[in-house]
Amino acid sequence: MEDCHGRTINYLRLSVTDLCNLRCRYCMPAQGVYKKSHKDILKLEEIELLAQEFVALGIDKIRITGGEPLVRKGILTLIEKVASIDGLKDFSMTTNGTLLKKFAKDLKAAGLKRLNVSLDTLNDEKYSYITRGGSLKHVLEGIEEAQKAGLNPIKMNVVVIKNFNEDEIDNFINLTRYINMDIRFIELMSIGEAARWSNNRFLSNTKILDKRKELIKMAKEDPASPADYYKLPDGIGRIGLISPISCKFCQSCNRIRLTADGRLKHCLHSDDEINLKELLPNRKLVREVISNSILQKPFSHHLEEGKYIIRNMVQIGG
Ligand code: 5AD
Ligand code: SF4
Repeated sequence: MEDCHGRTINYLRLSVTDLCNLRCRYCMPAQGVYKKSHKDILKLEEIELLAQEFVALGIDKIRITGGEPLVRKGILTLIEKVASIDGLKDFSMTTNGTLLKKFAKDLKAAGLKRLNVSLDTLNDEKYSYITRGGSLKHVLEGIEEAQKAGLNPIKMNVVVIKNFNEDEIDNFINLTRYINMDIRFIELMSIGEAARWSNNRFLSNTKILDKRKELIKMAKEDPASPADYYKLPDGIGRIGLISPISCKFCQSCNRIRLTADGRLKHCLHSDDEINLKELLPNRKLVREVISNSILQKPFSHHLEEGKYIIRNMVQIGG
C-alpha cells in the first residue's frame, strides 16, 4: 500500500490488549487504565481476520504489542494463527519481558520470530520505582529464556528519562562491548500519561552523541527503521537511537496501528482513528476502508509544537 506522500506502508503494529501487569509511570496512571468490557475489545478471531485483511493489502511485517501482549488470554493461539498467514515475512513482539520465562519456548514454537524487550534500568530499586512494583529479576530471567529459545535478535528498548536513568546510559552503551544485542534509546514522548508526568523529564538523544564521541555510525540496513545505529569501536552489539522529538523520522514512516478495541490509527501522534471493529462483519468494506484511508496518513507529527494526544501509550502499543 502506498500513501499520498509516496510512502510504502507495509508494517502493522497490532495491539492485543491495553492491559498490563506493570504500571510504568510514563505510560499508565497508578490505578491502571479503565478496563474495557469484553465486547469492546477485539476477539482473537477478529484480530486474526483483520490481520489477514492487512496482509492481503500488502502488510508483510507485523509486531504484536499491548499493553503487555503476554497477559492476553489465548495469545499463543493467536500467534500461531497470525504466523501462518501467507505473505507475512517478519513477525515480532514488543513485551516488558516479565512473563517471558514462562512463554518464550511456546512463542518460538508458535512461530514468533523475534522480540523487543522494554527495560529502562538495570537497577532493582529503580526498576521497581519506574514500573511501580515490577521485578527486574523476572525480566532478566525472561530475556535469558528467550535467548535460549532462539527468539533472535532480541532488542532492548530503553526510554531515556532525566533524573532517572541518564546516569545509566554509559553503562548500557558499554554493555554492547560484551553482548551482541541492540540497545535502543528512545526519547520520551508526550503521549497520554507522559504528557502529565514528563515535565522536565525529556532528554534529547543528541546528548548521547555529544558525550560519546567514539560511537561509530553504521549504515542503515532498513531505511524505514526509526533507529539510527551506532557501534563502539570494540563493540559487538549495536546502540540504536530512536529520536522522534529531536530528529523526526515521519518521512520514512512505513507503519500503521490497530488498537485492541479495533481502531485503525495511521499515526501514533494523532487522535484520528477508524473503527474497524464495527465494520468487520463486512470484510470487503474493511478492506476498502483500510486501503482508501491509507491515503490520508498524516505526513508528520506535531509533538514539538506542544500538541499531545489523549490515549495513553498502553492503549496504543507504542
Ligand atoms: N515515550 C517513549 N516511549 C514510550 N514507551 C511507552 N511510553 C512511552 C513514551 N511516552 C515505550 C515503552 C516500550 C515501547 C512500546 O514504547 O517503554 O518500549
Ligand atoms: Fe506496561 Fe509497557 Fe506501559 Fe510499562 S510501558 S506499563 S510495561 S505497557
